[in-house]
Amino acid sequence: MRIINIVGARPNFMKIAPLMAEMRRFTDIEPLLIHTGQHYDSNMSRRFFEELDIPTPDYNLEVGSGSHTWQTAQIMLALEPLLDKVRPDMVVVVGDVNSTMAAALVAAKLHIPLAHVEAGLRSFDRTMPEEINRMVTDSLADFLFTTERSGNENLKREGVPENKIHFVGNVMIDTLLRCRQHIDDQNIAARFGVAPRSYALLTLHRPSNVDVPETLSGILDAMAVMQKKLPVLFPLHPRTRQRIAEAGLFEKARTLADLRFLEPLGYMDFLGLMAQARMVLTDSGGIQEETTILGIPCLTLRENTERPVTITEGTNELVGSQAERIIAGVLRILDGKKGNSQHPELWDGHAAERIVKILRGH
Ligand code: UD1
Repeated sequence: MRIINIVGARPNFMKIAPLMAEMRRFTDIEPLLIHTGQHYDSNMSRRFFEELDIPTPDYNLEVGSGSHTWQTAQIMLALEPLLDKVRPDMVVVVGDVNSTMAAALVAAKLHIPLAHVEAGLRSFDRTMPEEINRMVTDSLADFLFTTERSGNENLKREGVPENKIHFVGNVMIDTLLRCRQHIDDQNIAARFGVAPRSYALLTLHRPSNVDVPETLSGILDAMAVMQKKLPVLFPLHPRTRQRIAEAGLFEKARTLADLRFLEPLGYMDFLGLMAQARMVLTDSGGIQEETTILGIPCLTLRENTERPVTITEGTNELVGSQAERIIAGVLRILDGKKGNSQHPELWDGHAAERIVKILRGH
């Protein structure tokens, strides 16, 4: 069984790592890896391959950055002749980035069976590019592997036959649990000049937060208040760095002694910083899940989440992007508010095993 696995952007790498490792255990599977090149900076891509032992991609399409339509089209144009040549028995895509949707479209057009890992998540917010990617990919997939039960419900409501849907758990948590021991052995916070539980960690990259200067400025206002109570470590996504510069906000932000800008971090450093933080503030999808497993309070700077189990069972709380609500959320946590701390069902480190078992059974 020749399986083509597709990756493109940073959050794909920790999801594909356990799948590739599991597939390589079986002689009846020939797993190949294609990197679309959506992310290409070393600290957004290569570093994760090294840290997570992901094999060097068999092919790199090197598409780079552009508008969503341009990027999607470039990936499709480059992938079609390659899939035609390699003729895999299956294409596996993960997550919800442009590379995921582009590859799903090409596989479907070539009648190659398609598996989507992390299927069924819905924010019900079609202004999010990822929501479009999720809906298109799920409507084309033959195997839909879900991380939480809400995903099954969403897919059934959209008319996906039940025999295509498989609730398997969360491959990103497979990677986290595998690396946990490694980061527990090091005091990563100390390397960044902070003590455990005495700092906050912030990540921002959603277009809805960083592309509108007023919204971005409001979030930085909240950080100006917050850093007086708790140092804030802020690894900057390239898009965010660019937007802060364009909006002329670096001058003001650099006067804040305890808002500390960092370069994008590798997987182990970021995981280590999350695990020792007092709280995490983010607009990422995956970080809501990782903080849930780590038991660290998470404030999500969005009005909705496609991952509701992180609220009902985990440590996540939605606070939106307005300064007052962010600060109120921070104060609640500093006052001792604890979120739930259950581990969602099947987030146990064995999701990749379940997925590969189902694919081989087929
Ligand atoms: C993408 C995904 C998003 C995911 C995020 C994680 C889509 C629609 N969005 O958003 O779901 O959460 O990745 O990071 O697929 N850039 C660099 N170096 C790189 C990559 C990007 O400098 O290696 C800069 C470029 O200026 C680029 C911008 O970042 O235009 C945005 O990159 P892009 O891949 O288009 O979207 P992300 O915001 O990273």
